[in-house]
Amino acid sequence: MNILLLGSGGREHALAWKISQSDKIDKLYIAPGNAGTAEVGENIDIKLSDFEAIKKLAIEKKIEIVVVGPEQPLVDGISDYFMLDPELRSVSVIGPVKAGAILEGSKDFAKDFMTKYNIPTAKYQSFKKATLEEGKTFLESLSSPYVLKADGLAAGKGVLIIDDLDEAKEALEQMLDGQFGDASATVVIEEFLDGIELSVFVITDGKSYKILPEAKDYKRIGEGDTGLNTGGMGAVSPVPFANKEFLNKIEDKIIKPTMDGLIKEKIKYKGFIFFGLINVKGEPFVIEYNVRLGDPETEVVIPRIKSDIVDLLKHTADETLDKVDFEIDDKACTTVMLVSEGYPGSYEKGRKIENIEKVSNSILFHAGTKRSGSEIITNGGRVIAVSSYGKNMNDALEKSYKNAEIIDFKGKNYRKDIGFDLK
Ligand code: AMP
Ligand code: GLY
Repeated sequence: MNILLLGSGGREHALAWKISQSDKIDKLYIAPGNAGTAEVGENIDIKLSDFEAIKKLAIEKKIEIVVVGPEQPLVDGISDYFMLDPELRSVSVIGPVKAGAILEGSKDFAKDFMTKYNIPTAKYQSFKKATLEEGKTFLESLSSPYVLKADGLAAGKGVLIIDDLDEAKEALEQMLDGQFGDASATVVIEEFLDGIELSVFVITDGKSYKILPEAKDYKRIGEGDTGLNTGGMGAVSPVPFANKEFLNKIEDKIIKPTMDGLIKEKIKYKGFIFFGLINVKGEPFVIEYNVRLGDPETEVVIPRIKSDIVDLLKHTADETLDKVDFEIDDKACTTVMLVSEGYPGSYEKGRKIENIEKVSNSILFHAGTKRSGSEIITNGGRVIAVSSYGKNMNDALEKSYKNAEIIDFKGKNYRKDIGFDLK
C-alpha cells in the first residue's frame, strides 16, 4: 500500500519511522517532510495549503491513505475536499472533516460540546465585541488567575493567564479588538484549574476507538516550567501518576462521552483525537481538544505502540477498528527536544548538525532539519527530538540526555529537567 503523510515535524518523522517498519507498506511519501523523513520515505515538496497539488500527487502516486499530521489542513477542510471529489473516492484521509476539526478550530464550539455532553471542563462563558461589558462582569465573578482564550487557531499563542483583574479586563478588550485577528473575535473566559496536565490520544474510525499511550509534555522554554511557551521541549510516557483508576475515569467521563457526542452530532470523525487534560485532585478535566497527535508527545507515544501502525490506519480507513489487535509496550519512552538558540523567539537557521552518527541507544526524530549536500543543517526552532526507551522513566531519560549532549550544533539548547515533577 502507498501512504502519503502530510507535515514536516518530529511528529511526522515518528509516524514515518513507524509506518516504514510495516511489511504492508510499499511506498511512503512525506510532504514536505524533513531530513529525517527522507531516510524512511520519499519527501515531496508541496505546500499543505495547496489541496490541488496534494490531489494530483495522490492520484499520480496511487495513494490509498493520506495521514494528516498538523491541524491547519484539517481545519481548512482537506478531508471534506478528498471525500467530495469523485476522482479521490479510493483515497482515505486519516483526519476529521471540518465539522470535527472545529473541536480544535473553535474553543467556543468545543466548550459548548463538552457542556452538552456533560464532559468535565472548566466553567466558562464566551464573549464578542458587543458583549465586552458582560465579559468584564463575568471576570469580576471569577477569582484570580483569569484564563482568556482566543476562540480560533492562534499558533499556540491565543491563551492568556493573567493574575490582575484590571489587566484581564484590558486584555479582553484588546483580544476582542483583534489582537489575534479573526481568531479572537470571540473570546472564551474560563475558571482557572489548578492541577497537573497530561495528554491522552485516541484513534477512531467514527464507530470505535483505541486508546494510545498517554504522555506529558513540557511546554515552557525554561527549567522548572518557567519562561515562554514553546511547541514542547520534551515528553514522557507513561505518566507515573496516571494509574489504572485515573485512566479508567478518563475513559468513562471523557473519552466515551466525546465519542458518543460526535456520533449524536453526526460528525463523521476518522482520525486522532488529542485530549489535553488536567488532573485536579484525582479528577480529570478537559483543557482542550486537538484533532491530531501532539508534538513532541508523538515522539514518545508512537515508539510505545507494538502493533503494526499501517494495520491500524487501514482499519481506521475501513471503519473496522474494532477488529484490530492493539498492543502497547510496557517500556517507558522519553524525549528531549534540541532547539535553536533564541527559540521560541527569533533564531538562525542553517547551522551544521554534527555527531548524529555517534548516537546509540536513542532514536532521533528530526523536526527542523534539512539536508544540504552531504550535511544536515538546522531548519527550524525545534531541531531534533532525542527519544529513548527505558525500563522506567529515569532510565530512559538517562539515555536521552547522554545523546542530547553528544549531538552538536552552534547554539544548541535543551531543557535539562524533563520529567522533573514526576520523579
Ligand atoms: P490550551 O491552548 O487551551 O491548551 O491552553 C494552553 C495552556 O494554558 C494549557 O496547556 C494550560 O497549561 C493552560 N490552561 C488553559 N486553560 C486553563 C485552565 N482553565 N486552567 C488552568 N490552566 C489552563
Ligand atoms: N505539544 C502540544 C501540542 O502538540 O499541541
